[in-house]
Amino acid sequence: MLTAYDYSMAKILDTAGVDVLLVGDSASNVIAGHETTLPITLDQMIYHASSVIRAVSRALVVVDLPFGSYQGNSSEALRSAIRIMKESGAHSVKIEGGIEIKESILRILSAGVPVMGHLGLTPQSIYKFGTYTVRAREEAEAKKLIEDARLLEDCGCFAIVLEKIPAELAKTVAEELTIPVIGIGAGPFVDGQVLVTHDMLGITKEFKPRFLRRYAELDNIITNAVEEYIKDVKSVDFPGQDEYY
Ligand code: KIV
Ligand code: NA
Repeated sequence: MLTAYDYSMAKILDTAGVDVLLVGDSASNVIAGHETTLPITLDQMIYHASSVIRAVSRALVVVDLPFGSYQGNSSEALRSAIRIMKESGAHSVKIEGGIEIKESILRILSAGVPVMGHLGLTPQSIYKFGTYTVRAREEAEAKKLIEDARLLEDCGCFAIVLEKIPAELAKTVAEELTIPVIGIGAGPFVDGQVLVTHDMLGITKEFKPRFLRRYAELDNIITNAVEEYIKDVKSVDFPGQDEYY
């Protein structure tokens, strides 16, 4: 699983064979440049999701319910999920949290909308946590996470994401559950992995958590290409004879 926010990138990722494309609210950071995921709106998520959907012929598309679109009550959560499904054509939604949002999850599922859960580091709660460090290192939080994971499966979620928790805890959860457990910074003992595409491609260079593996250094590649373009335009090397009419 990888994130996607726009048509062109989604087309490349889908063609490459990624099973699940997540239209993450991380668009708030990597696309809009906000410091947190909190500012992105439901309308903006729908815009990203509809762009991704137009590119996809194979992958399952999951769309994050953004901060403020589901916490109020379960009918608001359902309304938000329905807007995403109807206006973008997406296949499913993802929501952060456990027992606190049980009613919302059940209500969305009862409308026939598949729901992916998200536990551990849930970035929409960053102002409660205070930092982006590893979650559930202490017993009480680990115990609640296992209970929440069981609850999400019992509610009918089709999969869950575990973000930035100890690998041993993620292993316990993956063994407990039958639905797929997809990790980010949660170690190898899970069923799948997810990364933010712009991070794994080396576009967002400042972001360097331990769990991130960079599969390309697109920042350098783009910089070199653009520098070359500037040079060629200034020297009128571009456009060349076979590049104009
Ligand atoms: O928004 C996002 O990119 C996510 C993944 C990190 C799981 O929720
Ligand atoms: Na997210």
